[in-house]
Amino acid sequence: MTKQRLYSGMQPSADSLQAGNYIGALLQWRKMQDEYDAFFSVVDLHALTQPNDPAELREKTRRTAAQYIAAGIEPSRSTLYVQSHVRAHAELAWILSTITGFGEAGRMTQFKDKSQRYGADATSVGLFTYPVLMAADILLYKTDVVPVGDDQKQHVELTRDLAERFNGRFGETFVVPKPVIQAETARIYDLQEPTSKMSKSAESQAGVLWLLDEPSVTAKKIMRAVTDSDGTVRYDRAEKPGVSNLLTIYSALTGRPVAEIEDEYAGRGYGDFKKGLRDVVVAEFEPVRARALELLDDPAELDRVLAANADRAAEVADATLATVYERVGL
Ligand code: ADP
Ligand code: NA
Repeated sequence: MTKQRLYSGMQPSADSLQAGNYIGALLQWRKMQDEYDAFFSVVDLHALTQPNDPAELREKTRRTAAQYIAAGIEPSRSTLYVQSHVRAHAELAWILSTITGFGEAGRMTQFKDKSQRYGADATSVGLFTYPVLMAADILLYKTDVVPVGDDQKQHVELTRDLAERFNGRFGETFVVPKPVIQAETARIYDLQEPTSKMSKSAESQAGVLWLLDEPSVTAKKIMRAVTDSDGTVRYDRAEKPGVSNLLTIYSALTGRPVAEIEDEYAGRGYGDFKKGLRDVVVAEFEPVRARALELLDDPAELDRVLAANADRAAEVADATLATVYERVGL
């Protein structure tokens, strides 16, 4: 039986990925790469919707790819490539933009949020059409499943609508993909502001655990994580967001149920619990960090791997694009 196809990606929006990217995305991807014919992209074209220094963007892209590999995405098994290396993404995005309604795109809540934050003058047309490019990313590969955070669910819905619309107008061309929404238990919050998602673009770094942080920095951030005055290691997202978040991280990285961790630390203080978590996180991140730095030490080899994977991706993408051109009359 042929495997179903999976597509996912991340923006190269920082030098390092953060613990939420690792737990919420990379760990899931790593697990899924056996079961699926998986395509994992570093979506640098998407990153252009924010201001970037060109040399820094290129470096962030390479670093993000290195972290994918260091976290266990195998470029010999999955197709791991940089979005801009495959020209078909931008070309299909253009064609899809011609069947996307202006009002339809305007309803995307992520665009509404971001454009409100940036203001009209700093909001580009690229930010507006971002979901159309994302639809092109997914549809080019005849993707069956798209693992995403729930903030991306609306974009996958748009992708499905566009696939169905195109198929209806021009004949069966695209597979209509299904989102696989990340479990709430894989959602990681900021260590200093445990009601906000941990994010690469957080304003303060104090509560963000970076995959490439030195172990001593990671340790300090965990020991200083916000808790509460209740003193019991117990999961309660509403009343104890800080402790609950630490339990989530502990559980995600060890594979142990939260209840079992609560039992282990029953009657002990937060200090002990944090030390335990510190050891778990450092043990998990340290080899990933070391491997990523090793890969980055040989950029020519990394670039070679990425180029070979881009060729593989382009083979699939170009075939889809050729059909699309033919169908629409180009
Ligand atoms: P960031 O906010 O760090 O820029 P992105 O929005 O680029 O992250 O998301 C990239 C991937 O990482 C997505 O699959 C997303 O669901 C996952 N992810 C990002 N932040 C978290 C988090 N705090 N907890 C769990 N998963 C996350
Ligand atoms: Na982001």
